[in-house]
Amino acid sequence: MFLFLLHKALQAALSFSPLHPTSPPPQACGINLKLILHDLFCKKLQQCCVLFDFLDCVADLKGKEIKRAALNELVESVATSRGVLIEPLYPEAIKMISVNIFRTLPPSENPEFDPEEDEPTLEASWPHLQLVYEFFLRFLESPDFQPSMAKRYVDQKFVLQLLELFDSEDPREREYLKTILHRVYGKLLGLRAYIRKQINNIFLRFIYETEHFNGVAELLEILGSIINGFALPLKSEHKQFLVRVLIPLHTAKSLSIFHAQLAYCVVQFMEKDATVTEYIIRGLLKYWPKTCTQKEVMFLGEIEEILDVIEPSQFMRIQEPLFKQIAACISSPHFQVAERALYFWNNEYILSLIEENCQVILPLVFATLYRVSKEHWNQTIVSLIYNVLKTFMEMNSKLFDDLTASYKVEKQKELKRERERAELWRGLEEYQERRMQMLTEAARNQRNLQERGERGDTLNPSSPQTAHSDQPEPKPSGASSGAGESAT
Ligand SMILES: *[C@@H]1O[C@H](CO)[C@@H](O)[C@H](O)[C@H]1NC(C)=O
Repeated sequence: MFLFLLHKALQAALSFSPLHPTSPPPQACGINLKLILHDLFCKKLQQCCVLFDFLDCVADLKGKEIKRAALNELVESVATSRGVLIEPLYPEAIKMISVNIFRTLPPSENPEFDPEEDEPTLEASWPHLQLVYEFFLRFLESPDFQPSMAKRYVDQKFVLQLLELFDSEDPREREYLKTILHRVYGKLLGLRAYIRKQINNIFLRFIYETEHFNGVAELLEILGSIINGFALPLKSEHKQFLVRVLIPLHTAKSLSIFHAQLAYCVVQFMEKDATVTEYIIRGLLKYWPKTCTQKEVMFLGEIEEILDVIEPSQFMRIQEPLFKQIAACISSPHFQVAERALYFWNNEYILSLIEENCQVILPLVFATLYRVSKEHWNQTIVSLIYNVLKTFMEMNSKLFDDLTASYKVEKQKELKRERERAELWRGLEEYQERRMQMLTEAARNQRNLQERGERGDTLNPSSPQTAHSDQPEPKPSGASSGAGESAT
C-alpha cells in the first residue's frame, strides 16, 4: 500500500516534468512539491537497495516486479525532470548503484570458456541490473550532474570496483560499463590518472599472469579515445603504456577478440606522434606469429592500417625489416596469408611509398616473388604475384631486368652448387660401399684363420694363441738387481 501511494505521488510529481508540458506546476505549492519529490526519490533509492535472488526464478516475483517498477521510475525521473539531483541524493544514488552492481562475479559455468566459440553466460539478474546501469548512466549524463558533489562518492575505491566488473562474461553489462566509465573519465578529472593506472594494471595482469579478462576489448575502446586526447609531447607514462602494454598485448592467445580495438589504439598513438612508428613496427615484427596463420593475417591487417597513415620519412626507417617479413608472408603456403600480403599492392598510398623506395624494396622481395610465382600451389596467388611483378616492371624496368638477370645467374650458380653437392655425395657413397666390402672381406679372412688355428693346422705356426703360451712372461727384475747392488 505504501508503495502504491509512493508510486502515485511520484507520478503526480513527475507529471510536472517537461515530459508533460500541458500541465504547468502551480507556483504556490512548487516548493512543497519539490520537497516531496526529493523525499520520494530518496525513498525509492533506498527501496532499490533490496536485492533479489534471480537464480531461483520463481522466488519473490512480486517483490522483483515492485523493484523493477521503482527502478524504471527512477530512470525516468532522472532523465526527464530538472532539479531532482540535489546534494543529499548523491550518496543515496551511489549507494544504491554500489549495492546492486558491485558483487563477486560468478565463476564461468564453462571453465574452458572460449570467448570466440562459446556462448557467454548471461547475468541472471539482468532485468534489475540493466535498469540500475541505465539509471547510473542517466545520472552521469544529467545536465544537473555536479562533478564536484559526485567526486566525494565516486572515488578511487568505487572506480576500482567498477573496473573489476569489466571481467563480466555478459557482453550487455560490459557495454554499459564501457559507456559509464567513459563518462566518469570525462567528468571526474581528478580520477583520470588513477583510471589509466588501474587499466594499465588490469592489462599487465592479463598479459603476464592470467591471460584471462573478458573486458579487454571494451577497455581498449575507451583507451582509443583517451589516447586521442593526449597532449603533445607525449608523457613518458603514455609511452610506457605503448611499450609495456599495447605492443605486448599482441602476443595474447585471444587476440582476435580485441584486435580491432588494439590496432585502433596503436594507430591513434602513431597519429599523435609519428616518432613512435618505428618502435611500433619493430615491436610487431618481433612478436610476429610463427605458427598461427589466423593471427598472421591479423598482423598484416594492422600493418596495412599503419602504412595507411605512415609518414614517408618513417616508412624509410623500417622498410627493410618490414619488407623482409612481407616477403616471408608472400611465400607462405597458406593462401590467406600470401593473399593478405599481396593486397598491399592494391593500396594506392602504400603503392606510392613502394614506388618511391623501389630501389630498396624490389631487391628485397624480387627473389621471393619470382620463386613463388613458379611454385605456389594456388593459382589465384600465382596470378596476384604476376600482377605485382608487372607493377614492378612498369615502375622501374631497368632495375627489374637487372634483378631478373642476376636472379638467373644466381639460379645457375645454385644449380651448379647443387650438382657439385650431388656428385660429392655420390663419391662419398661409393667410397663407403668400397670400404664396407673391404671390411667384410677382412672379417671373413680373420674368421678363416681362427678356424684353422682351432683345428691345430700347422700351416700357420705363429697363430696368436700358441705364440703367447710359448714365451715366458717377462718377470719384474727389481729384486735381483737390488741384491746385486748390495753385493758390490
Ligand atoms: C586460392 O586462393 C584464393 C584466394 O587467394 C581462394 O579464394 C581459393 O579458395 C584458393 N583455392 C583453393 C583451391 O583453396
